[in-house]
Amino acid sequence: MKALILSGGKGTRLRPLTYTGAKQLVPVANQPILWYAIQSIVAAGVTDIGIVISPETGEEVRTKTGDGKRFGANITYIRQEQPAGLAHAVKVSREFLQDSPFILYLGDNLIQNDLDWLLHKFQQQNLDALILLRQVPNPSAFGVALVDEQGRVLQLLEKPATPPSNLALVGVYFFAPTIHQAIASIQPSARGELEITDAIQALIHQGQTVEACQLEGWWLDTGKKDDLLEANRIILDTCLTTSIDGEVDAKTQILGRVQVDRGTRVINSTLRGPVIVGRNCHLENCFIGPYTSIADGVTLIDADLEHSVLLEGSRLVGIQQRIVDSVIGQRAHLWHAPRRPKALRFMIGDDSQIELI
Ligand code: G1P
Repeated sequence: MKALILSGGKGTRLRPLTYTGAKQLVPVANQPILWYAIQSIVAAGVTDIGIVISPETGEEVRTKTGDGKRFGANITYIRQEQPAGLAHAVKVSREFLQDSPFILYLGDNLIQNDLDWLLHKFQQQNLDALILLRQVPNPSAFGVALVDEQGRVLQLLEKPATPPSNLALVGVYFFAPTIHQAIASIQPSARGELEITDAIQALIHQGQTVEACQLEGWWLDTGKKDDLLEANRIILDTCLTTSIDGEVDAKTQILGRVQVDRGTRVINSTLRGPVIVGRNCHLENCFIGPYTSIADGVTLIDADLEHSVLLEGSRLVGIQQRIVDSVIGQRAHLWHAPRRPKALRFMIGDDSQIELI
């Protein structure tokens, strides 16, 4: 068994963060989204992992993630020259996959469920494909499945205008090597991509065994800001344990589950968990409320925030109002200047979103 994680794409829905980096490296609870996929695959006993990367962000993914040793895996990087679809990514990975069955995992997806029982079902029943489904309120944004009472998949449609059900295709799939013939038989979709959804539909057409499992636990497709904040909330809620390795002064109050990494100083502040603070940060006269993740090298002075994600090297100084539901990019700088005239002065990157009251 092998695994293929897709970590290409342009990440247009997460701009401006994705102008300078891969969407799969955006951190959730201070860890790149992609790494959760790797950990989950390794936990299911699969260690031979291919990661499909794009020419634009591939080097960053490779440098940050490495050869897999730190995860107990062996990682091979595969370049996809254009974002020509998920099935195209499988096609370009054929040399890595050989004739092995494999897990296909979209690198911006996060699921609560362990993969081992799904893998077990896939192997035990000798399936050609096992897909995961989840009820969603907006099925038109996803691949959608029509399933009979026995859980057999009757039809799959990619982002249909009038969805036949509210069951979305989760970005984690299990495939036998028969998927390669199915991919060879399909044409690009209306959006010009080779869709994995169409390839699975072709398997069904050929009478191969395609089954679905409906997920009850959470599933997050972190491609947008609100989904990213939600993923951050859920991971902090379920996975964070208290550990204080940084320096916290006597005037600081720590409440609930809080993690402060080494090299970080916290002075005269309140941290109300779940909160995670990375390495080498400086926090002074701050209130940090629940569901906040602060990456390495962040400076916060006279700042008040909650339910937010701050990326590496960002700086917030003297902000008079509480900051909520926010994602602050790498090295972004927000400060309060006493100079006159009292006015707002901006240098805002492309596609930024600022809400003022
Ligand atoms: C892709 C798939 C879609 C699936 C979704 C899950 O969509 O094409 O079928 O439901 O991932 O995240 P994309 O994110 O490429 O729009």
